[in-house]
Amino acid sequence: MTLNRRQALALLATGFALPHGIAAAARPGPTLKEVAGKKGLRVGNAMAGGPDRFENPGYRALTARECHAVVCENATKWPVLQPRPGVFNFKAADAIFAWARKEGLKRRGHTLVWQEDRWAPPWLVQYDFGAQPGREAERILADHINTVTRHFGDDLYSWDVMNEAVDPATGGLRDSVLTRQLGGPLTQIDMCFRLARANLPRTQLVYNDYMGPEVGATKHRAGVLKLLEALKAKGTPIDALGMQSHVGPWSDLEAKGGKAPFREWRKFLDEVTAMGYQIVISEFDVSDRALPADVARRDVGVAARAKDYLDVTLDYRQVTDFFMWGMADKANWLRQQKSKTMREHGLPSRTTAFDDDLSPKPLRDALLAAFRAMPPRA
Ligand code: XIL
Repeated sequence: MTLNRRQALALLATGFALPHGIAAAARPGPTLKEVAGKKGLRVGNAMAGGPDRFENPGYRALTARECHAVVCENATKWPVLQPRPGVFNFKAADAIFAWARKEGLKRRGHTLVWQEDRWAPPWLVQYDFGAQPGREAERILADHINTVTRHFGDDLYSWDVMNEAVDPATGGLRDSVLTRQLGGPLTQIDMCFRLARANLPRTQLVYNDYMGPEVGATKHRAGVLKLLEALKAKGTPIDALGMQSHVGPWSDLEAKGGKAPFREWRKFLDEVTAMGYQIVISEFDVSDRALPADVARRDVGVAARAKDYLDVTLDYRQVTDFFMWGMADKANWLRQQKSKTMREHGLPSRTTAFDDDLSPKPLRDALLAAFRAMPPRA
């Protein structure tokens, strides 16, 4: 089913005449995981510490009710796991995964390496690699990936091995403190996957990035395709592309009022799948920027943006996982991203499927509609 923007808005508007929260909360209905599960799509959520997230029993219950799986939002990143050279701390991640296991939720990892230096641990960026810098950099990389993958082992079914290695401005591969010591980015990326595979023969290994359908991301998409091709040619052990899917505002796409850019998006997805890669939607949320301040209208706009994106993307059966990057507005990182993504009105952001009081929003219905409309996974 493909609706145009006007039809989607009209459809979504009909269900949401009642004060937000109340109507939806009273409606029992099937969960996201039930509807997606029937089609073979796994639904997940990112979990992080804090009073609005892991420490909130209602939010934990919501995640367990609506999802099949959990990923750590920050707790399995390098700066958290190895805050000082050779000193590892698994406490936060272990707590989240222990709870997930108890709830019967599957578990995935994010991310062994986040390429940009600003997201690497400061000690690594400042590191003195000594007289044999290549060997020392390889030792450090291997130590991190070996220690982390051996700690979690088969408990995680999927790992983001490398995050955001392509520069969106040029489509080229980013340099980092590690790529400079290790013979360039392609060699270093290949090395990361090989190190991971050596410890994880059965785990899905993923390259994760944020290229989207907008015109402005043309170079980014081309760069990611080029990387995926190069890794394939090298025989790198990589199974899937993670598409972060921080949806919108895509002003260039929406200003033109058409779906032409989705033609380019389909071409991108055609090429990724033709190379044999699986696809993980890894960090889904929807920007509410440039939408009306009025809550009801804004929520409908967010839902319509999601539906546009998902109707095209979920059409590909190779998309096996749908992870939300937080599933309540107050538990989503965009609430804190004031300068970049918070609404220009200065109002609290509304970027996820559930309200601050954890009641469902129009976006949740849009997700259910997209899951119902998509073809079954293989
Ligand atoms: C974000 C987290 O949500 C924030 O809490 C943290 O401060 C920064 O990282 N792309 C990614 C994620 O791959 O790891 C990022 O998560 C969001 C963008």
